[in-house]
Amino acid sequence: MTIASRFQNKSIIVTGGASGIGRASVIRLVSEGGTVLAVDRNADGLRETLALANAAAGYGGAVRSAQVSITEESEVRDSVQAFVQEQGRLDVLVNMAGILRSTHTTHTSFEDFMQVLQINLGGTFLFCREALPFLLETRGNIVNAASTSAFFGHPYMAAYSASKGGIAALTQALSREYLNRGVRVNAVAPGGISTPMVAAQAQAFPEGSDFTLLGHLSRPDRQFGEPQDVAAVIAMLASEDGAFMNGAILRIDGGTHG
Ligand SMILES: NC(=O)c1ccc[n+]([C@@H]2O[C@H](COP(=O)([O-])OP(=O)(O)OC[C@H]3O[C@@H](n4cnc5c(N)ncnc54)[C@H](O)[C@@H]3O)[C@@H](O)[C@H]2O)c1
Repeated sequence: MTIASRFQNKSIIVTGGASGIGRASVIRLVSEGGTVLAVDRNADGLRETLALANAAAGYGGAVRSAQVSITEESEVRDSVQAFVQEQGRLDVLVNMAGILRSTHTTHTSFEDFMQVLQINLGGTFLFCREALPFLLETRGNIVNAASTSAFFGHPYMAAYSASKGGIAALTQALSREYLNRGVRVNAVAPGGISTPMVAAQAQAFPEGSDFTLLGHLSRPDRQFGEPQDVAAVIAMLASEDGAFMNGAILRIDGGTHG
């Protein structure tokens, strides 16, 4: 087996597959032979991902899509079950769907705070819960999306940071819970990756933001990472190359938080 065919005969679900890091992950995993279900609520983005992934497919890799809102329990359950029924197995779950909101904490409604937690942390939990019974059958694995904001205090992102800290804790709790049953659970913690989320954020800091506090969000030369930089690490964690990694949270930020 070469590094390029690590996911031959593997069935994989990627949430957030319509954009950014999720899309780059779909393309990477399909190019390495995986059969990938790209999940997102954005139908247009999914169509674009399908075209790009089909063009990149290698080693028998294939891609499907499902329009799903990751906080709708029935949609999550149905999409996982339909894919497993079609493929006969599930080997990997990659949870990349998420949202970022930037506000002063004093101006954040409880509803807005909870919405970020519900999507980022709640949606990740729901996909983990629905996928785990099938991952237990294949001794598969999960890769979640934490963030440098979980560990390094990003201002004006209290809800987002709390949700990502929750995902880091969820990752480690699950890695321990399933340690003796063969399922590995890891996370990536990106920082400053050039995606639509980050491009939108550049315009979205609230009025009165103290930009001297934002220094470590990007490199001094303003260089950002690319979604492919994160997808490569996700592929490593999800493959046999990551066989001895469990409960790990890998920082991918070009050294900005070092
Ligand atoms: N880009 C970065 O620098 C960075 C840094 C740290 C963590 N992350 C995390 O990586 C993941 C991917 O981020 P990205 O930068 O590629 O963002 P992105 O905005 O490009 O992609 C996120 C995707 O999630 C989907 N999504 C959001 N809410 C959804 C819902 N309720 N149901 C279904 N789909 C939903 C969006 O439609 C979008 O396609 C996110 O979890 C993000 O928090 C990104």
